[in-house]
Amino acid sequence: MKIDGTHYRSLWWNSEKGVLEIIDQRWLPHDFRVIPVVTMQDFADAIYQMRVRGAPLIGATAAYGMALAMAEDPSDGNMDAAWDFLEKTRPTAINLRWALDRCRAALRPLSLADRAAAALTLAHEIADEDVEINRRIGENGLALIREIAAGKPAGEPVRVLTHCNAGWLATVDWGTATSPMYHAHDAGLPLHVWVDETRPRNQGALTSWELGQHGLPHTYITDNAGGHLMQHGMVDMVITGTDRTTRRGDVCNKIGTYLKALAAHDNGVPFYVALPSPTIDWSVSDGVAEIPIEEREAQEVTHVQGLTDTGDIGTVRVTPDGTGGGNPAFDVTPNRLVTGLITERGVCDASESGLAALFPDYAQAAE
Ligand code: MRU
Repeated sequence: MKIDGTHYRSLWWNSEKGVLEIIDQRWLPHDFRVIPVVTMQDFADAIYQMRVRGAPLIGATAAYGMALAMAEDPSDGNMDAAWDFLEKTRPTAINLRWALDRCRAALRPLSLADRAAAALTLAHEIADEDVEINRRIGENGLALIREIAAGKPAGEPVRVLTHCNAGWLATVDWGTATSPMYHAHDAGLPLHVWVDETRPRNQGALTSWELGQHGLPHTYITDNAGGHLMQHGMVDMVITGTDRTTRRGDVCNKIGTYLKALAAHDNGVPFYVALPSPTIDWSVSDGVAEIPIEEREAQEVTHVQGLTDTGDIGTVRVTPDGTGGGNPAFDVTPNRLVTGLITERGVCDASESGLAALFPDYAQAAE
């Protein structure tokens, strides 16, 4: 995707320096900073502190972390230690474990001498695959947006609501939920995006920045506004991302997604989830009962970061001194509230049969 006209991915390998570089998302949308990720501790910090974030991007970053571990010490013991060290950084997004498992399975059979080069090649592959998966999600989601546009007077925008940032910043490129939007915009379909603020980390500001860079009309709204907009017929569809989807199609995504799904259901607004296949956890079925929900620091809730009048990025406390904050970072939307899953292989029902029909190979492998 483009920033001031220049194409970027959200991470890239700097082959001259032999190092991974990332956009440090903690400072966006106010400051664009690129930083190298050099040590294993840097990798863990980058993921935990959300310098990189979003399920697919966390997975790709972890693969580069495994490549570093193999360059430092390609033994089985170090491979397992790197897996453990990186896997515990964020517990909900399954792409992290998916990428680490994939690396370990591919590298274990190799000789020690071959592991470092193979691990780096695999990390590049995982990053490239993510781009292609998201491009296809965009094409499949475009068909849905086209259908809605066809039912509206010519020139009237399709109004899409999204939650959090499931944009290109959350992936290697394109985004998941945003990919259909970018494809629709590029195809000349008029679109307007309602962007949920997404407290406490305000990922909606990232989405707004991305959409703005792409010239896509959008409005930043409070998290509580979506239900009201839906009641007044101002939302044609919802598209969100997902951090982990169960084999029966329960969707775990950024906290607040469930409330949007309830409001959409109550108002007959289609609620779609953009789902890359690495985000399916075939080992779990009941999302509410089985998916671990990350609990983050209270300070993310009691304090807010923003740009001050002097042009500095600063943090202020919004609560009285001594008030504690509760910070569950994700929630689960049961499959009955999901109209459809937009995957790289097509759109399916949020159900075990729907997912198994599109991904028979993965479903069988998981049995
Ligand atoms: O806590 P974050 O910012 O990593 O959460 C991100 C989300 O919840 C996204 O919606 C999800 O990872 C899908 S990203 C394509």
